Amino acid sequence: MELAPRYEESEARYEDREKKKRGLGQKDLVSIDQLSSDDIILILDMAESFKKISERPIKKVPTLRGRTVITLFLEPSTRTRTSFELAAKRLSADTVNISKSTSAVVKGESLKDTALTLEAMAADIVIIRHPASGSAALLAKYMGCSVINAGDGQHEHPTQALLDLFTIRQEFGTLRGLKVAIVGDILHSRVARSNILALKKMGSEVIVVGPPTLIPKEIESLGVRYSYDIDSVLPEIDVLYVLRIQMERQGESLFPSLREYAKLYGINKQRLQMTKPDLVLMHPGPINRGVELAPEVADVSQSLITEQVKNGVAVRMAVLYMLLGGAEVE
Ligand code: NCD
Repeated sequence: MELAPRYEESEARYEDREKKKRGLGQKDLVSIDQLSSDDIILILDMAESFKKISERPIKKVPTLRGRTVITLFLEPSTRTRTSFELAAKRLSADTVNISKSTSAVVKGESLKDTALTLEAMAADIVIIRHPASGSAALLAKYMGCSVINAGDGQHEHPTQALLDLFTIRQEFGTLRGLKVAIVGDILHSRVARSNILALKKMGSEVIVVGPPTLIPKEIESLGVRYSYDIDSVLPEIDVLYVLRIQMERQGESLFPSLREYAKLYGINKQRLQMTKPDLVLMHPGPINRGVELAPEVADVSQSLITEQVKNGVAVRMAVLYMLLGGAEVE
């Protein structure tokens, strides 16, 4: 399939068909830190081809026929797990899902033993979501097959960041020079961390916004600005990326009440009126309607939230494919 160089960043990369054929040249995807900006462009360009496949009546190619993909999700998830499973199925891989209730972890098995068991079953890729930061890296160390981090505690969620970049690039044609505000619970958010790393690599400017208790002190070391005042940031940004308030990760109350949070930082129609006319609104889901987003706001025309979900499948197809070595897409 021909890849059209639609985006300025992709042109240089486009020449390098050899690397595309070899894939990413690494076994695992645990952190955005492992990827260069060229690798990111390669994945996004490849995802363009896969998006076209998802728009065909028969949404399947034989690319990963005979390969086995296991999803090991030890934390609740609907969209990420389904998205990975669909991605693998559209590439004709065999898929097996293991969730917390069906895994021997509840019987006390260690992650290392789970890894060795899955390895013995000849999995080609294991996709892990786990409540502990660092768990994906640990699994990758014990396993000879590829491991993809689908969210490890508060650490990283690299494929979420890649699908977000894909969605922003699709809208603006570039990532370079865009101003992106990430708003909310930065402290507990693996999505924020992966997005900051990825957006910075691609030349976007990032401003994190939230109450002081939800912005980590060392945030400036990641090369981002921070603000506690959403209203002063709204007029200057191109992308408003809103995070879920992660009540399940907050050991103590880090703000007075959800009502208070919604009043000070929640995005409502009035706040959207303070933004540039071509601003886009994003959220990784699941949304707490009435907390970080006013009930009517998730469905406004500037919202790319369903587009993010749609693009997630194509981007994950690209990642699965690139990790297993890459080749021309049929
Ligand atoms: C995110 C996650 O689990 O990290 N959701 C997702 O993957 N779509 C964000 C969240 O749970 O708020």
